[in-house]
Amino acid sequence: MDQTQTPLFSALRRHAGSGPVQFHIPGHKKGAGMDLEFRQFMGDNALSIDLINIAPLDDLHNPAGVILEAQRLAAEAFGADYTFFSVQGTSGAIMAMIMSVVGEGDKILVPRNVHKSVMTAIILAGALPVFIPPVMDRRIGISHGITVQEVERALDLHPDARAVLIINPTYFGVAANLREIVRIAHGRRVPVIVDEAHGVHVHFHDDLPLSAMQAGADMAATSVHKLGGSLTQSSILNVRRGLVDPKRVQALLSMLTTTSTSYLLLASLDAARRNLAVNGSAALERTIRLAQEARRRINEISGLYCFGEEILDSEAAYDLDPTKLTIHVRELGITGYEAEKWLRKHYNIEVELSDLYNLLCIVTPGDTEAEIDLLVKALRRLAEENANPKAARDIIVRMPQIPRLALSPRDAFYAATESVPLKEADGRIIAEFIMVYPPGIPILMPGEIITRENIEYIEEPLRVGLSVQGPEDKTIGNVKVIVETSAIP
Ligand SMILES: Cc1ncc(COP(=O)(O)O)c(C=O)c1O
Repeated sequence: MDQTQTPLFSALRRHAGSGPVQFHIPGHKKGAGMDLEFRQFMGDNALSIDLINIAPLDDLHNPAGVILEAQRLAAEAFGADYTFFSVQGTSGAIMAMIMSVVGEGDKILVPRNVHKSVMTAIILAGALPVFIPPVMDRRIGISHGITVQEVERALDLHPDARAVLIINPTYFGVAANLREIVRIAHGRRVPVIVDEAHGVHVHFHDDLPLSAMQAGADMAATSVHKLGGSLTQSSILNVRRGLVDPKRVQALLSMLTTTSTSYLLLASLDAARRNLAVNGSAALERTIRLAQEARRRINEISGLYCFGEEILDSEAAYDLDPTKLTIHVRELGITGYEAEKWLRKHYNIEVELSDLYNLLCIVTPGDTEAEIDLLVKALRRLAEENANPKAARDIIVRMPQIPRLALSPRDAFYAATESVPLKEADGRIIAEFIMVYPPGIPILMPGEIITRENIEYIEEPLRVGLSVQGPEDKTIGNVKVIVETSAIP
């Protein structure tokens, strides 16, 4: 196939260029009927291809023309048998992926630190999650992926599991030994489905971790918009033939997708795929060099640490995407949150995320030496002006014990609930999520039985100022639990 072609984007340009008289939505009609300031800011080119599924432009819900061609080119570029475009972010792709392999009462193995779209899909499907604890890295206070051994153990304990979900690479760029996980799961004919939100680019350079498709996984929800150059919210779902049914995947994607699909998003996927396929390797070569140079310079700054391959010492921390710069600021005696605010105030720098101990900065083909120089300069001043090593806090990343599931997350979600004081919730079934940051691992999920240990685990981080998120009551004085009907005497 000719990867220099963009069938969908080109069809949109041709169509807009032919000057069609539009008696269809969107009612702004190439911008003429919209707010003038917005129109001028957006530009008439973009507005002229803000179109809908009229016949010449195909239909994402039943593609047979230019969208199908664009998806086929993407499948070839990503090493998949089928690629489906998503205009509902990777969240939409993840939900379709999960709901295509599990239904009511089916077990699915998932890492405990999954994205909320995974739990949403499990609730909607009525599936039963079997949680696997991720490996905690106590040196930097983050969690990695899950190990091959844990997956094997979980499959031994739950031979009826219908799928294994892996997050690969993690937000911080750490990859597990995915090929081995796939080998073990496939040995039992269990499909491996991958949350590849942070790994669209890895497929396009040999020095990056293996992509889900390269590792032999069955499906991967891959955020083209995050690191692959398409517009925000556009994403893809890659599928391998064999253990999953592509027709069912297409049907579920369609069920979960708006009927008014944005052609701006779809065209941006088509163009991003071309750019990755044609220029990706060279662009990533530069990006990796830029990020490695940044890492080296950051590590020369006293009080800062930006990890590299030296942390790869387990099956969960098996490979690294060096374009992610996780900058550990703990030894300066400040938090990642404070460092984020300082960089915003003094250098107008916006980072990807911060937590108690770290900042995360991503480097992409959109960066040049100028941005890296500014980041290093800003970090140097941050370290000079804020160093107070005596204030450095210890790293607390305890892994909460995973509670017992009493009800399926769906039954818990739909059950009648009441609010009770956290202190008195021992033995009750929780109806909401409770998480502690860092490391961002849920302590309780809907349907689980609250234990005294969980209660203490929640109270402790609150005492030391860590952020506890999820419950309706932000003070965590009360939690929502399932109403228990007492037996008729
Ligand atoms: C690990 C992970 N999975 C899935 C998603 C969802 O992606 P999207 O925002 O494209 O819906 C995210 C988003 O941040 C994520 O971090």
